[in-house]
Amino acid sequence: MAEIIVVTSGKGGVGKTTTSASLACGLARRGHKVAVIDFDVGLRNLDLIMGCERRVVYDFVNVVSGEASLKQALIKDKRFDNLFVLAASQTRDKDALTMEGVEKVLKELSDDGFDYIVCDSPAGIEKGAYLAMYFSDQAVVVVNPEVSSVRDSDRILGLLSSKTKKAEAGERVKEHLLLTRYSPKRVETGEMLSVGDVEEILGLKTIGVIPESPDVLNASNKGEPVILDTESPASQAYDDAVARLLGDTRPMRFTTVEKKGFFSKMFGG
Ligand SMILES: Nc1ncnc2c1ncn2[C@@H]1O[C@H](COP(=O)(O)OP(=O)(O)OP(=O)(O)O)[C@@H](O)[C@H]1O
Ligand SMILES: [Mg+2]
Repeated sequence: MAEIIVVTSGKGGVGKTTTSASLACGLARRGHKVAVIDFDVGLRNLDLIMGCERRVVYDFVNVVSGEASLKQALIKDKRFDNLFVLAASQTRDKDALTMEGVEKVLKELSDDGFDYIVCDSPAGIEKGAYLAMYFSDQAVVVVNPEVSSVRDSDRILGLLSSKTKKAEAGERVKEHLLLTRYSPKRVETGEMLSVGDVEEILGLKTIGVIPESPDVLNASNKGEPVILDTESPASQAYDDAVARLLGDTRPMRFTTVEKKGFFSKMFGG
């Protein structure tokens, strides 16, 4: 049985697609067979971040509507043989995805021996987000350390505990907090909420804290998920998050302002 992980948030533009791509790559790098699906009908973004946009022939909606087989639509990653992308459709019809269609695709992936299915949710709490989370076993709730983002994630948590298949069966979706665009400096000056603040407000356990980093934009311009840019703090933080998702314990990094020592103050570096 594949483990279905939804990457979700209330507010848009917080880093879900960036996170979906890096988590999927990180899981594949550890040898798991992974599919990452773009649920953002009409927008299509994941294929750009994954660097496979020119190879999209068929998409998620084509498979759901029977115009293509899942095999035809899955795009094999250039870097990992065990990683596949299912792109979103650019159709304007928001109702093109159906519950039955989504279930059929997820089941087929599971039957094909996939270990993990990462669902990149669209923003908001409308149908697309609902479909992305409905069949999930685990949810990575992506939050920026600011009040509006935290407040909107609270509404997503409400949906996860009431409007998912697990919730309907009296079970729970396993929820994780992933804080991103974190700036320890701005936390220290009181402009941003701290990890502890956000954990306390949402009552969630943190699976990762990704620092604000220009490497993220550079990576997306290159079509190379930032986790693969191993020199980058954002990459290392995503790798920690993948390890924790798989059950490892790792200390949090990049959450405090680096205090420069005497020598580095004198000589730089
Ligand atoms: N750690 C980070 N540091 C700097 N910029 C970041 C970071 N994470 C994400 N971003 C930037 O934030 C923007 C939004 O990211 P992304 O597309 O992943 O968000 P999203 O939640 O998927 O958006 P949408 O809700 O529209 O689907 C992008 O420009 C991305 O480069
Ligand atoms: Mg997105």
